[in-house]
Amino acid sequence: MIDFQTIIDQITAEVTQEKDKGAVASYIPELGKISANKFGIYLIDDQGNGYGAGDSQEQFSIQSISKVLSLTMAFSHLGSDLWKRVGVEPSGDPFNHLSLLEMENGIPRNPLINAGAIVVCDVLVSLLKDPKKEFLAYVQKMANDSTIAYDPKVAASEKATGFRNYAAANLLKSYGNIKNDVDTVLDFYFHNCAIRMSCKQLANTFYIFMNRGKCLQNHEYLNLNQVKRVNAIMLSCGFYDEAGEFGFRVGLPGKSGVGGGIAALLPNNFCVASWSPGLNKKGNSKLGMLALEKLTTQTALSIF
Ligand code: DON
Repeated sequence: MIDFQTIIDQITAEVTQEKDKGAVASYIPELGKISANKFGIYLIDDQGNGYGAGDSQEQFSIQSISKVLSLTMAFSHLGSDLWKRVGVEPSGDPFNHLSLLEMENGIPRNPLINAGAIVVCDVLVSLLKDPKKEFLAYVQKMANDSTIAYDPKVAASEKATGFRNYAAANLLKSYGNIKNDVDTVLDFYFHNCAIRMSCKQLANTFYIFMNRGKCLQNHEYLNLNQVKRVNAIMLSCGFYDEAGEFGFRVGLPGKSGVGGGIAALLPNNFCVASWSPGLNKKGNSKLGMLALEKLTTQTALSIF
């Protein structure tokens, strides 16, 4: 049996020695306040055993990682009708690019870039009576943790500086791919990005993608066919224009956020979350990618 605790302890000791820890995102001012020296990792295996190292219990802003959770909720409601409004191809572009959106008539390439996630939020605003409350309750239940919450300061900071997201939402609206009021949809989107979790909470949440669609409490969130699709989208689109690099170096489906978190998983085997706020040039956590590369290399556990 693999000694995950020793491996993640070693990896933590190694990566925290790195001199270049990347740059903390500052385009959302609230995120810029976090120290680049934080590093945490938490792994949960298929038996539900957890292993943590570093700052694995400290909460951070999960940002775009929430896009997988909103996708899961919308997909479980709409089924394959969702793909009429958003594609499943990697964009090869930064997460907030707008040019493809115009060239492709308002159908975002995939649900994990900002424009795609905004369409998914619109779907949920149409489906839910109280989207923010119901989405948070859904995530809390998935993680089996009622303490998970939105960070109102981060949500407000995003709203105040979310010019590109307003541009994307308005462009989508002009193509008829936003059905609700733009401000309502973006308020929901900004709150989703502003969910706070620790690595432990994040790994517990992503357990469903490792565990054939069922959470730690065995409730089914996605059926087998659906979880296959969501994992495939994470593999090809979870790291924007660095999805190829993440697949090449780490070899797992996963998702990053500009708060420095990464969640990744090996189906039927383990789920892991890392956090280090310093980002590389493509907006993915520098030490997080390095740590996960070491994890899959040292354990020889990846989808490849
Ligand atoms: O909308 C934004 O720009 C952020 N709330 C989320 C971006 C993000 O996390 C993309 N990540 N790598």
